[in-house]
Amino acid sequence: MSQAWMIASGKGGVGKSTITAALAVALARRQLQTVAVDTDIGLRSLDMLLGLQNQIVYDVIDVANKDCKLKYALVQYPLSPSLSLLPASQLGTSGDLDPDVMGRIVNKLKKRFSYVLMDAPAGLERGVTNTMQHADHTLLVVTPDDVSIRDAERVIALLEHHHKPRPMLLVNRVIPAMVADGEMYSPQTVANALDIPLLGFVPEDRAVLTALQRHHTVMDEEGPARDALTRISQRFLGEYVPMPAFTRRRGWFGRRG
Ligand SMILES: Nc1ncnc2c1ncn2[C@@H]1O[C@H](COP(=O)(O)OP(=O)(O)OP(=O)(O)O)[C@@H](O)[C@H]1O
Ligand SMILES: [Mg+2]
Repeated sequence: MSQAWMIASGKGGVGKSTITAALAVALARRQLQTVAVDTDIGLRSLDMLLGLQNQIVYDVIDVANKDCKLKYALVQYPLSPSLSLLPASQLGTSGDLDPDVMGRIVNKLKKRFSYVLMDAPAGLERGVTNTMQHADHTLLVVTPDDVSIRDAERVIALLEHHHKPRPMLLVNRVIPAMVADGEMYSPQTVANALDIPLLGFVPEDRAVLTALQRHHTVMDEEGPARDALTRISQRFLGEYVPMPAFTRRRGWFGRRG
């Protein structure tokens, strides 16, 4: 049965879009029909992260306004036939997308794709509640700091308010050496603080920035973030992949996620 996931955060800029793009590519590489939906109306970014920015003709608002059929707004990812993108519009705000219309679009996508990954806007505003209503599950992206954790608590409360299941946690931008030194919260500490299950963590990795500049995803850039996201995609599919420990090894710290 197909699943619609919202990739959300309280605090902005924690890596939601980066992770949505990478996870979508990882799932599609396993021949799972996947669509990445950019619900950040007015501030789209998934097109750029997937290198599809020059191929967009229509967007989700055009579909909502019935200016085009859904199939014409979907952009096929050339490197993996199982992946498509439904882009956000570059103009407007989340208020331009009627929740019921969005619901109908998500239902249509679920008929065609096994995984619908919706990259949500940051915060708790209308765009998030709109996306949340149509998501079966939520992946909450948090960085290991008190501000991000506190803002994530607000998202969890909002999910509860909407009678949604508790989210899974992904801790991003972890610096393993700092965790090993006790200078940064470990991913499990963040999970305990939020009382939600940990799907995995992604280390801070300059390859993420290189990928951004090259307009391809982290999955195409060798490094610890890609390795971590591969493991996360396996856990996402229910496979058992142990969580690496943060142990000090003669000045070298576990660099995996
Ligand atoms: N693991 C990482 N290592 C290094 N840089 C990262 C990592 N994850 C994300 N970044 C960088 O952080 C910045 C923000 O990432 P991204 O745009 O994915 O966040 P976002 O949560 O979608 O932001 P917004 O809330 O504005 O939508 C980007 O420059 C991205 O390259
Ligand atoms: Mg984003």
